[in-house]
Amino acid sequence: MLIPRPHRLVRLPGRFPLGPGTALRAGDGAQRAAALLRGYLGLDLPVTPDGTFVLALDPALRGLGEEGYGLTVGRDGVLLRAPRPAGLLHGVQTLRQLAAAAGGESLPCVQVSDRPRFGWRGVLLDVARHFLPVGYLRDFVDRCAGYKLNVLHLHLTDDQGWRLPVAGYPLLTEVGGRRRQTAGDGVPHGGSYRAAELRSLVAYAAERGVTVMPEIELPGHARAALAAYPHLGNVPGRRLEVWERWGVCESVFGVHDEVFDFLRTVFGTVLDLFDSPYVHIGGDECPTAEWETAPAARARARAAGLAGPRDLHGWFLRRAGRLLLDHGRVPVCWAEAGAAPLLPREFTVMPWRDAAHGLAAARRGHDVVMTPHRSTYLDYPQSDDPAEPPGQQPGTVTLADVYAGEPAPADWEPAAAARVLGTQAQLWTEYAPTPAHVDHLAFPRLAALAETAWSHERDLADFRRRAAAPVTTPGYTPTKEERP
Ligand code: ACM
Repeated sequence: MLIPRPHRLVRLPGRFPLGPGTALRAGDGAQRAAALLRGYLGLDLPVTPDGTFVLALDPALRGLGEEGYGLTVGRDGVLLRAPRPAGLLHGVQTLRQLAAAAGGESLPCVQVSDRPRFGWRGVLLDVARHFLPVGYLRDFVDRCAGYKLNVLHLHLTDDQGWRLPVAGYPLLTEVGGRRRQTAGDGVPHGGSYRAAELRSLVAYAAERGVTVMPEIELPGHARAALAAYPHLGNVPGRRLEVWERWGVCESVFGVHDEVFDFLRTVFGTVLDLFDSPYVHIGGDECPTAEWETAPAARARARAAGLAGPRDLHGWFLRRAGRLLLDHGRVPVCWAEAGAAPLLPREFTVMPWRDAAHGLAAARRGHDVVMTPHRSTYLDYPQSDDPAEPPGQQPGTVTLADVYAGEPAPADWEPAAAARVLGTQAQLWTEYAPTPAHVDHLAFPRLAALAETAWSHERDLADFRRRAAAPVTTPGYTPTKEERP
């Protein structure tokens, strides 16, 4: 009945009743978990010193790591314990699922000892191609936390939109946050977040054990920024519009000093709003044609001692990543072919085209979060049923494909496999214009991804049975202001 499947679970006879008579006891460091649990159970449970439903932080507990927990539900009492606060939050999600399966009226008696296989269990939401209101993001975070996912990767900027407010650069959102139409449909689209909204999202996620990792795409996928501030590009005096179609755009950031001044300011905002130890800087799909013709870029390549303007791709990423490393944050990049720019080992990489690129990067000493598109890209249709909304590209990524994705393939040597931090799903929204579309793409495949990241043992048939049970929350309802 639980997703993801816990490490060890023993079902015991009997049930613990939930009702107005149930009282919680929350020790030091367990109050946040208790508050979350009360919200989920929908009961106004009193917190008393002699409650029989106990949540306890116990740093002396061994063998549960940063995120594990132990749970005993007996007929007369419940004991949830964890050595670290994150473990308590995951235990609360287990209780939430157990209660939901019983209509909220009781908990089955169980003994659970649980901890994740991987520490990075993420999902990317592309809010650049189609803007998603912050209310949706909050609800999405809560549902992700239900599956014990712990990273929300927010893809905040791309050719088609810039969603992050940056002081001193108001046109990023005023101009870069809107496009006139998409693929000739004549329908304007836009949106951006307020700093306070992002701050409150980060706090809301943290209360659920989820870290929000921002992504600022560079040096490619930057056209929305160039539409706002043409001087950041490679062609002086050229005006571009926010891109009105999909694909790989030739217009990329220039390599002159003003661009790095701009990035320093953008990262200043990013580091202020987001406490994630990791910050994604894109790095994928960067055509070098503009640098090969722009005199300023050619001169920069020569001055930097590069073999040619193409090598500016790696040069740019190294320089941008340094701006983060200097502040104690880890830059994350998409990894492409083996010939992709060589990056310092401090960069964490996400192989999106092929798992083999992850192996090559791990061998070079990079930490790796596995994101191969054939098992983690949820923008592909999940079946070839004609009722599916149109997908981004031909092919499908089925629930079984996601479930079969192996974050640390058995044929990798142990030293390379040990570099795998975990895995995450990608929800690109080029063909998902509304929250309902995103939901359709996400569930239940995201539950399958969560199990690949958390569970030590997997069984597809058993997963399908558990996934057929009622979901833990009804999902997102737009507020009046958010309704289109
Ligand atoms: C990607 O899908 N271009 C990371």
